[in-house]
Amino acid sequence: MKIVEKILEVRKLVTQAKAAGKTVGLVPTMGALHEGHFSLIRAAKKQTDFVVVSIFVNPTQFGPTEDIDKYPRTLDADAAGCEKNGADVIFAPTADEIYAQQNLSWVNVEKLDQPLCGKNRPGHFRGVATVCAKLFNIVQPDIAFFGQKDAQQSLIIQRMVADLNMPLKIVVCPTVREKDGLAMSSRNRYLNADERKDAALLYASLQEAEILIAGGLRDSKKIISEMEKIIKLSNRAKIDYISIVDAQTLEEVEQVEGKTLLAIAVKIGSARLIDNIIITA
Ligand code: PAJ
Repeated sequence: MKIVEKILEVRKLVTQAKAAGKTVGLVPTMGALHEGHFSLIRAAKKQTDFVVVSIFVNPTQFGPTEDIDKYPRTLDADAAGCEKNGADVIFAPTADEIYAQQNLSWVNVEKLDQPLCGKNRPGHFRGVATVCAKLFNIVQPDIAFFGQKDAQQSLIIQRMVADLNMPLKIVVCPTVREKDGLAMSSRNRYLNADERKDAALLYASLQEAEILIAGGLRDSKKIISEMEKIIKLSNRAKIDYISIVDAQTLEEVEQVEGKTLLAIAVKIGSARLIDNIIITA
C-alpha cells in the first residue's frame, strides 16, 4: 500500500491501475478511521480492483466555531487499518494541495442542503459537495463508497453526481454500530465514560420509533415526542433535531408513509452525534 500527498502522484497510480484493466474504488474520509470506515474499504475491495482511501480533514465543511482544530488525526493507525482492510493507496493531501488558490468554484446541492444538519451547519454541505467533486475529479473512480450513517450527505452526493452527470457510481453502505447500538463515529472519541453511556440513547430512540411504527403509529409528532422522552433520560443530552422526512426529498412528513427517514442529532458534552434509520411503511 502506498501513501501519497500529491494530486499528480495519486493520478499516476490510478492511471497505471486503469491501464492494467483495473476498476477503481474511492473511499473519501477525514481519517480517525474506525470499523464504519473499514466496512466501506472492504466493500470497495469487493466491488473494485484498486482501492483509494482519501484522508483529508476538509476545512471548507467546518463552521467557524466547529471542531476542525481538535478533530482527531491518527494517520499511523489509519494507515495500518487501511492496509489490513485491502486499500491500495492512501491519498492524504495537505489543505494547500487541495485548495492551492482561493477557491471560487463551489457545488451547492440546493434544497437537500437546507433541512436536518443544514439548519445549524450553514455552508457545511457546500464544503462536502465541493471536496467530493474535487476528489472525484482527482481520482476518477468507477465507484465511490459512502455510509448511510451520514444519510443527508450520501443523498446530496448522489444528487450531485446525477445532476452534474459525473461518470461514476455511488454505493451507500449500512451503518456500523457498537454493541449497544451507538453508530461508530470519529467524534465518539470526544465522549467521557458517562457521556458514552448516554450516547446509546440515540439509537434506542430510533429503535423505539421503529417499534411504534411497526405497531401501526403513523403520526410523526407523536413518534418524535416518544423519541424525545428517551433522549431526555439523559440530562447531558441536548437535542439539535429529531426529524421524520421523506427519504428522497428530505421534506418533513406529518404521517409515516412509504420510504421515510428518521434522523436525529444530539449534542452530548462537546460531541455532536447524528444517527438515522430508514423505514418503509
Ligand atoms: P468521515 O466522517 O470520515 O466519514 C467518511 C465516510 O465514512 C462517510 O461516507 C461516512 O458516512 C462513513 N461512515 C462514518 N461512520 C460510519 C459508520 N458508523 N458506518 C458506516 N459508514 C460510516 O463524511 C466525511 O468523513 C466527510 O464529510 C467526507 C465525505 C470525507 C468529505 O470530507
